[in-house]
Order: sequence, then structure tokens, then C-alpha cells
Amino acid sequence: MHRRFPARATALPVCSLALLLVSPLAASATGPETMKALVVSDGHLLLRTVPKPQPRAGEVRIEIRAAAVNPADWKMARMASRMGPTPILGLDASGTIDAVGPSVEGWKRGDPVIALVRPPHGAYAQYAIVPADFIAPKPRTLTFDEAAGIPVAGITAWRSLIDVADLQPGQRVLIDGGAGGVGSAAVQIAKARGAYVIATASARNIRFLRSIGADEVIDYTAGPFERKVKDVDVVLATVNRADALRAIATLKPGGILVSIVGPVPADRCAAARIRCSAPGSSGGQPAAPYLRDVDRLADAGKYRVSVERVFPLSEAAEAWTLNEQGHTRGKLILSVAH
Ligand SMILES: NC(=O)c1ccc[n+]([C@@H]2O[C@H](COP(=O)([O-])OP(=O)(O)OC[C@H]3O[C@@H](n4cnc5c(N)ncnc54)[C@H](OP(=O)(O)O)[C@@H]3O)[C@@H](O)[C@H]2O)c1
Repeated sequence: MHRRFPARATALPVCSLALLLVSPLAASATGPETMKALVVSDGHLLLRTVPKPQPRAGEVRIEIRAAAVNPADWKMARMASRMGPTPILGLDASGTIDAVGPSVEGWKRGDPVIALVRPPHGAYAQYAIVPADFIAPKPRTLTFDEAAGIPVAGITAWRSLIDVADLQPGQRVLIDGGAGGVGSAAVQIAKARGAYVIATASARNIRFLRSIGADEVIDYTAGPFERKVKDVDVVLATVNRADALRAIATLKPGGILVSIVGPVPADRCAAARIRCSAPGSSGGQPAAPYLRDVDRLADAGKYRVSVERVFPLSEAAEAWTLNEQGHTRGKLILSVAH
């Protein structure tokens, strides 16, 4: 199937993302110094043979086993020309260390890891170079497919709830969009923190959310959630700005609304006597401490990644189209063959 995605994001209807894939992963062999990668080129997503990147000082090379899909991937694709001629997208990876650059300590070839990867040298490839402070050990309790779903979702949820909201045991927290990548991470982190966790989802996800620790699940299709939820200390808004605005009514005075879907007007927050915030940019801050925090929860049996579906890397376009529909439970994973 030959499809192309439009160059501009703003005018796109939902589900309009279309991509061009020209060759299956197995179509041509790679040499020792080359690898297969999905590159964005002139509005198309192409499977290409490209040079295998070499680690510099402070970096490791990961042989990628799985990459996770994030909404940021297909959003970035529409602005890919700003990243250079043929960027490789993908932020989340799991795999094994394949080469270690000078001055890297504590890691060796073969170590299983998870990584936050940076486009334009992203995770949609057989190998990626990552600074050593952007990796952490793969949790023993999770498969490579599951572990690939940790970085963006886990870091975003951790920074929002712990760093920004300073969530405390016994506090009431509302996770709007509890079944998604960030939402399901947040439900588990909040539960592990000892909070009372309320999450929104459609009816098909009620049992799932209960299984990962939600104390209450509000079916958003049965009426506005703000009519059913009151007096929460913390809200994490992951669905859209309209929901974030409605969530103001669920907070008690002095509470905090953390939005990862755009800012909430300061006057609305002041009128409700709440604080409004966002996790903000990490500013290049090392991801490893966050990854290790989530690792610890996973290895303690308090954090898992629900994989809705695994696609081969060559079917990333289909995975993006599915994710863009907005109803992914947990994560969609791209399996990377070698
Ligand atoms: N600022 C940041 O740092 C940052 C970081 C990561 C992500 N984000 C953004 O945050 C958003 C969420 O990311 P994600 O990875 O979690 O997305 P995702 O995994 O694709 O989220 C899908 C989930 O949203 C739920 N959902 C859809 N409509 C809903 C509604 N009206 N009420 C409650 N739940 C609803 C779906 O549940 P049902 O199937 O039950 O509807 C589904 O489980 C995206 O816009 C992403 O770009 C921002």
C-alpha cells in the first residue's frame, strides 16, 4: 500500500494520517556497518538501509528489540522536515547494549536495557545511539515488548505526579484518560504512592483499570466525569484541553491540575483557587533516574505495561493510524527484526 502523510498537522482530520512504506524489513540484507531504519523523507515513511551509528564518548549503541508508539511520533512526522532530510523517529526502545563508547562505565555488551531515544536518531531502527544517562536496566519482570512501553509514558507520569504534583499517600487523584500509555502508567505510580486513584475510561477499560489499581473508574461515555468526581487533590489531564478545563471542577481548593495536553488559562485556575502546571520540558535532563524509579516499581510487581498489539517495524504506519484513533489500551509496540 502506498500512502503519504500530509505535511501540515493543524488542518488534519482525525485518522487522516497516511504513510508510504516501500519495502518490508526482510527485503534487503544489511552489512555489518549498515542497518534498517524507518526514515521520514519528503512526507513519506520509508524503510531504508542506512549507516549503523557509532557510539561516541558517553554513549552506548543499543541493538533494538522493540520500540513503542507514542502520539508524539506521528505528530513529529508532520514536522519532520525541520529535523533534517531523513530523520528516524521513535522515542522508546528496549534491547541489548551492542557497543559501548569511551568513558562509559557500568555497562557492557549484552546488557538488557530500556532507553529514551532522541530523534532524528530515533528508535524506529535496528540500532540507536543513546547517552548512557538515558538508559536503565530492563526490568526483569517484563518482556522486551512490554519494557519498550516504559520510557515516555513512565517518565511523563512520574514527573507529573511526583515531581510536579508532589502526590502524597492518602491523597485523592483523578487520572483523566487512565487506560492510555501515560494514564495507565500514572494509575500504577499513584497507587504505588498510596493515593486513592480515580480514573476515567470507556466501559471496555473498566476491568483493565481496576486490575492495575484504580479504586474508582468513571465511564466517560455515561456522562461528564466532573458530575461524579469531587474534592480531588491532584488531576492529571491526558485526554485533551477541553477535559483539562472541565477537570478544574473536580479539584478542592489548594489542589493541583497537571496537564500534558496544553496549558490551562491562569485566570481559570486562580478563580478555582487551584494551581495549574505541566511537566514541562525535561531540558535534556537525564532520563535514567526516572527509568530506574519505574524499573523498581516493575520489579516489585507494582507496574506493568499492557501491550495492546505488536506490529512489525515495517507496519509502523498501521500502528500510527490505530494510535491516532485515540483508544489504545496501554501501548502499541513495534517489534524490530534482525
Ligand atoms: N507533555 C508531555 O510531556 C507529554 C508526554 C506524553 C504524552 N503527551 C500527550 O498526552 C496525550 C496522551 O498520550 P498517551 O500516550 O497516553 O496517549 P494514548 O495512549 O494514545 O491514549 C489513548 C487512551 O485515551 C483514552 N481516552 C480517549 N478519549 C478519552 C476520554 N474522552 N476520556 C477518557 N479517556 C479517553 C482511551 O481510552 P478509551 O479507549 O477507554 O476511550 C485510550 O486508552 C497525547 O496527546 C500525547 O501527545 C504529552
